[in-house]
Amino acid sequence: MDKKNIDWANLGFGYIQTDKRFVSNFKDGKWDDGKLTDDANVVINECAGVLQYAQTVFEGMKAYTTEDGRIVTFRPDLNAKRMADSARRLEMPVYPEDKFVEAIEKTIKANAGYVPPYGSGATLYVRPYMFGSNPVIGVKPADEYQFRVLTTPVGPYFKGGAKPITIKVSDFDRAAPHGTGHIKAGLNYAMSLHAIVTAHKEGFDENMYLDAATRTKVEETGGANFIFVTKDNKVVTPKSNSILPSITRRSLMTVAKDYLGLEVEEREVYFDEVKDFAECGLCGTAAVISPVGKIVDHGKEICFPSGMEEMGPTTKKLYETLTGIQMGRIEPPKGWLYEI
Ligand code: PLP
Ligand code: COI
Repeated sequence: MDKKNIDWANLGFGYIQTDKRFVSNFKDGKWDDGKLTDDANVVINECAGVLQYAQTVFEGMKAYTTEDGRIVTFRPDLNAKRMADSARRLEMPVYPEDKFVEAIEKTIKANAGYVPPYGSGATLYVRPYMFGSNPVIGVKPADEYQFRVLTTPVGPYFKGGAKPITIKVSDFDRAAPHGTGHIKAGLNYAMSLHAIVTAHKEGFDENMYLDAATRTKVEETGGANFIFVTKDNKVVTPKSNSILPSITRRSLMTVAKDYLGLEVEEREVYFDEVKDFAECGLCGTAAVISPVGKIVDHGKEICFPSGMEEMGPTTKKLYETLTGIQMGRIEPPKGWLYEI
């Protein structure tokens, strides 16, 4: 398929409508076969469950053009499983995991002209999502649902790409213990909007959320997990039941251990320890790995030795190895790349 005429190198992280999207409906206790459509608009009843009680979950993944010209996506089986976990937590029917991967494949294929060329710095962001579509007024789950997959070409999530960002310790909480922080539900993002707008107004790029119960432990940001590098070059990542189990973070731990021979630790990370780390980064599908140069806690600054100009050396190695795998330059572990 011919590539669309888009200025790939200057894309930000925004929505650009592409040609096709996948739609499947759940009615009378079952999913239909689903199909691709040209229609980017969703028409639902005014009282739909998603509109009244935010019954919606989603996923985020990317399609890449490899060095040898294939289109691939990264570990879609893990997104399928996480979306099933999210759906169960919000009392929604699971979209079957194999059908999820099929739907992703069909949608990416149908929009192949929008998959940015190798080396352009852009990727095709893929957003599967699902919502309660029939009228609900008493607080209960909907009976009917729609599953959709949309795609949009994107550039870096943070302006400036690989330049270190500055974040603040948020005064707001993101997720309660035993709440929904570990699933990808729209409601977690709705409640983070005031915190991110506040952070931006104060000149910060993102928020660091601490655990809501004690406010002593590092959780995550609004859209990415943390990784830290110790001064003796161990890779440390916070463990918590109320953060999203990032597929990028899980992959980076494998990359650190098996490709770079580093020691890795997934454990509770106290905020008090953060000042002693050598490097800090945010990791996620959208964020890839975005280096953090400075964290501000009510006026008190933590400045990482890696500085504000470039990624720290270990963060850089992790970034290059992960993106090398995703773009087909480095041999992936079995099952990580799914060819479209
Ligand atoms: N944490 C949150 C809150 C997110 O929204 C995301 C994005 O998906 C992540 C972490 C990173 O997860 P993943 O690496 O699976 O994209
Ligand atoms: C992703 O990384 O895919 C996300 O969903 C995060 C979001 C903040 C864009």
